[in-house]
Amino acid sequence: MSDVPGGPGKVRCRRAVTGDLDGLGLLDAACFPETERWSMSAWRAELDDGVDRAVWVAVRPQAGAEDGCQVFEQVVAACCFRAVDQDAELFRVMTDPGLRGLGLGTVLLTAGLAWARDRGAARALLEVRHDNVTARSLYVDLGFADLYRRTNYYGPGADAVVMVRALEGLPGPVSGNSGCDKEERSEGRRS
Ligand SMILES: CC(C)(COP(=O)(O)OP(=O)(O)OC[C@H]1O[C@@H](n2cnc3c(N)ncnc32)[C@H](O)[C@@H]1OP(=O)(O)O)[C@@H](O)C(=O)NCCC(=O)NCCS
Repeated sequence: MSDVPGGPGKVRCRRAVTGDLDGLGLLDAACFPETERWSMSAWRAELDDGVDRAVWVAVRPQAGAEDGCQVFEQVVAACCFRAVDQDAELFRVMTDPGLRGLGLGTVLLTAGLAWARDRGAARALLEVRHDNVTARSLYVDLGFADLYRRTNYYGPGADAVVMVRALEGLPGPVSGNSGCDKEERSEGRRS
């Protein structure tokens, strides 16, 4: 139904399950340079802890991958949060390079923030490289503001910026999959 690179299908957002592990690893490798990739054991740890941590994925049916009743899903975007007491932390967000600018990052982070709020967290924190313009813009759109800067945190000239937003009054769906479904659009907002 759409011309989105990678093929047709409906993208939907949901909590990740153990079976998404390989897809998360593939997506991580497509989104980050080798030095910044997470290991499979790191992703497994995120998936195994169903209490304080939550991984959200956007998936779509894989073209031509029907096997009897089973329809394989491709993980095209993901984010993971941890929430302990008052604070939730965003640890990772990534979208397939061919599907950026469609709003998938926004949908997933909105779901993750709602999850954190529903668990009683009062604020969400994250850390981002100062020159990651795309991610910083996404976070500002979602209501995050700079809290403080860690000079040279990622190496000489590569500062980390810690950002925060309050979760009280957060708009959007109550945690769960409601409001999370999303049809692929035929064109991204950016190339
Ligand atoms: C950051 C990232 C997850 C955004 O995912 P996405 O699905 O493209 O995000 P969205 O489509 O929801 O975009 C939301 C906002 O992000 C910003 N954004 C998205 N693409 C952008 C671009 N090319 N340039 C500048 N800002 C951009 C905008 O603020 C946009 O909102 P707007 O279109 O209303 O202006 C994606 O670019 C990515 O995977 N980057 C590599 C991994 C990474 O650096 N992750 C963050 C650190 S863990």
